[in-house]
Amino acid sequence: MTGINRRELGMGLGAAALGASLIGSTTATAQTAPAAMPRDDLSFPPDFLWGCATAAYQIEGGVKEDGRGTTNWDIFSHTPGKVANGDTGDVACDSYHRYQDDIALLKALGVKAYRFSIAWSRIFPDGKGRPNQKGVDYYNRLVDGLLAAGITPHATLFHWDLPAALPGGWQNRDTAYAFADYAGYMAGRLNDRVKHFMTVNELRCFTDLSYMTGGKAPGLKLPMGEVNQIRHHGVLAHGLGVQAIRTATKTGTQVGIADNPSIFVPAIETPEHIDAVKKAVREENAMFLTAILEGRYIDSYLTAQGKDAPKVRDGDMKLIGAPLDFLSVNVYTGNTVRADASQPSGYKILPHPGQAPRMPSPWLYVTPEVIYWGMRAISENWKPKALYISENGCSADDTVAADGKVYDTDRVMYLRNYMTHLQRASREGLPVKGYFVWSLMDNFEWEDGYTKLFGIHHVDFKTQKRTPKLSADWYRELVRTNKLV
Ligand code: NOJ
Repeated sequence: MTGINRRELGMGLGAAALGASLIGSTTATAQTAPAAMPRDDLSFPPDFLWGCATAAYQIEGGVKEDGRGTTNWDIFSHTPGKVANGDTGDVACDSYHRYQDDIALLKALGVKAYRFSIAWSRIFPDGKGRPNQKGVDYYNRLVDGLLAAGITPHATLFHWDLPAALPGGWQNRDTAYAFADYAGYMAGRLNDRVKHFMTVNELRCFTDLSYMTGGKAPGLKLPMGEVNQIRHHGVLAHGLGVQAIRTATKTGTQVGIADNPSIFVPAIETPEHIDAVKKAVREENAMFLTAILEGRYIDSYLTAQGKDAPKVRDGDMKLIGAPLDFLSVNVYTGNTVRADASQPSGYKILPHPGQAPRMPSPWLYVTPEVIYWGMRAISENWKPKALYISENGCSADDTVAADGKVYDTDRVMYLRNYMTHLQRASREGLPVKGYFVWSLMDNFEWEDGYTKLFGIHHVDFKTQKRTPKLSADWYRELVRTNKLV
């Protein structure tokens, strides 16, 4: 049944199995017929891009080397009480020195792509001014090593490690312009070899969680008017970054963003609840992705914020809404939404029930369907040219067995379930082009330090030895066969 899947033929698994056994019953191979059952409806397109993801501050270490400047996360992690156990990214996975080991891990997995981030403070130690060639050289070495191993680099320009010398951080509009200068400069330096650039990672995290709830650097709890302005500076940085990257690079370069929009699962798969999910995805991301993909702040957001709405200058929204070549989405979790005519919005977001399954990170409810419904709502709302899952994965309570291996069956279960729904998205024709596991290896998990580990490779932080977990073996097999089995 090459090229035709069972659903297109109107056959569910039961019907296919029944068909196989009926055919088999007329032959001498009746007992073996089910084993020959076609499995091609669980496969991914031949050019599907499998990859792994990391970020600079979480893996590099080497924080004082080769002229790197201090960042907000250096300061935050060294502030007592901010990060679990007082952990820092000072050494992390030591990838600044061991990047060749990381490339070897990727090669052994057989993945085609690697998503990493560039530390702004290695390139411009003070956030702006004179570039630091030694910092550029590190990413040249990394990119050259990846290409030599046949792995396509996908670079994120800002994954939360903000040069501390920039006055006011994201409270200051000037930071958006400094970001654009850095993004254009770095994209220009790498563009002969790097064709995929993401401006920023997870707007909500480096704005709301950093300046409103304060769990992430710089750990502030500001009033809503200021938070909305910071959000605006975040989306503006993205827009200015897109413009700068396009100016600095050649045709054929793909520019996008890696965001974590709030995404949802319909209470029941019926038109009214599916519509409610579409609406919720648009409304709940009004200050971030919706602004970027529509080039405006929608009325419901402006009305709800009233006097706290962001101050927008002429031309800002056009920059923010600049067309993108792809949209990357970090997918971890999502609530259920149901249509509710009694709500002004027309929908209600349901809280997770007390016993709902979740992984050790307290926010990480296991909701595999959200990868399908999220991509579907985004596609129907905004018709992006291409979608990537730029992160998906989970923390798990890993233990090292006597043979030195981590048998993380829970992580395998998590990944397999999410990918089943990703495969549905692909099978139904949504423009999902690739998937990056978070993360290649255990690393510094921000305010959770090293207490919540997301790697498919175990890292012994004393020796820096990397060991594939069961989930890495499982992922290697998925990449090899290009199908879920
Ligand atoms: C998303 C972030 O981009 C990444 O840095 C983080 O480690 C993972 N989520 C897991 O929390």
